[in-house]
Amino acid sequence: MRLEEVPDLKPSPKQVVVRVKAAGVNPVDTYIRSGRYSRKPVLPYTPGTDAAGQVESIGESVTRVAVGTRVYTSGTISGAYAEQALCEESQVHSLPRQISYSQGAAVNTPYAAAYRALFQRAHAVSGETVLVHGATGGVGIAAVQLARAAGMKVIGTGGSARGRDLVGEQGAHHVLDHGSPDHLDEVLALTDGRGVDVILEMLANVNLDRDLKLLALGGRVVVIGSRGRVEIDPRDAMNRDAAILGMLLFNTPEREAATIHAALIAGLENGTLRPVVREEMPLADAPHAHHEIMQPGAYGKIVLIP
Ligand SMILES: NC(=O)c1ccc[n+]([C@@H]2O[C@H](COP(=O)([O-])OP(=O)(O)OC[C@H]3O[C@@H](n4cnc5c(N)ncnc54)[C@H](OP(=O)(O)O)[C@@H]3O)[C@@H](O)[C@H]2O)c1
Repeated sequence: MRLEEVPDLKPSPKQVVVRVKAAGVNPVDTYIRSGRYSRKPVLPYTPGTDAAGQVESIGESVTRVAVGTRVYTSGTISGAYAEQALCEESQVHSLPRQISYSQGAAVNTPYAAAYRALFQRAHAVSGETVLVHGATGGVGIAAVQLARAAGMKVIGTGGSARGRDLVGEQGAHHVLDHGSPDHLDEVLALTDGRGVDVILEMLANVNLDRDLKLLALGGRVVVIGSRGRVEIDPRDAMNRDAAILGMLLFNTPEREAATIHAALIAGLENGTLRPVVREEMPLADAPHAHHEIMQPGAYGKIVLIP
């Protein structure tokens, strides 16, 4: 990746140009950049789906936002790692005043994935116990905040002491170390042997087989992240009437996406959702950011500042 000057963007009737103040870095950006993902853009391209900034210009048919509105994006047409991003009107969402642009850049992919996994795939309800397996990164922190605000009992895991402290501060009732060989026994102990109702799984190729043994009767595990293959014993699912649910944010139908963003904006407004920014880097450091996000020791989001 390298910086290049390109002409200013112009919106067509139902489009919006956003002056980007911060762009969110997500693991998927690295998979796409390295060509190891099912979505392969035509080269050259500008990476990134998540940005926050101010509306700079609008097409003549746009009604939902005006020039100057603070917004975050849920995808762009032109790419988010840039000074300007061209978006469909449906891809921009108003950013509450108390949320900084860097926090705004941390909203879309992590919070929408966490919301969709928890409520639209697992159908988790208040009073259930949720294990956020990998709670220190963008999606995990979002999931902890969402589940806690919805009245669930939350168990989160992290690989570093600093990360685990953060997960506790974000509202998890219990925090475990996913690097410890005993952490799954601890999950059973915390639930008096009953198991958890929902698991949000960030690294299924490592954990899915053992996750199935941690589920309560009727439990659901949602595969959010996976970086390889895994062998499972299907009997673990049979014995519990359990479900393994996949999810990919790109597959979200438009109506359900609208529900997600309405809920996220409400949560940002009322303070239950508080995106955690670990580091702001200049846009020119995007290659470094892609290296950093793949290292262990997650602590919220990395954002790029154009
Ligand atoms: N399906 C979708 O639509 C969708 C959407 C968003 C993200 N994702 C995927 O979901 C995953 C998480 O995304 P993110 O944005 O939160 O990434 P991130 O900020 O880089 O965080 C990665 C998380 O994985 C955790 N992890 C590392 N080893 C683990 C293990 N053995 N067991 C459980 N968790 C472990 C990390 O914990 P430590 O660093 O503390 O060890 C950290 O919490 C990525 O694979 C991403 O590609 C999928």
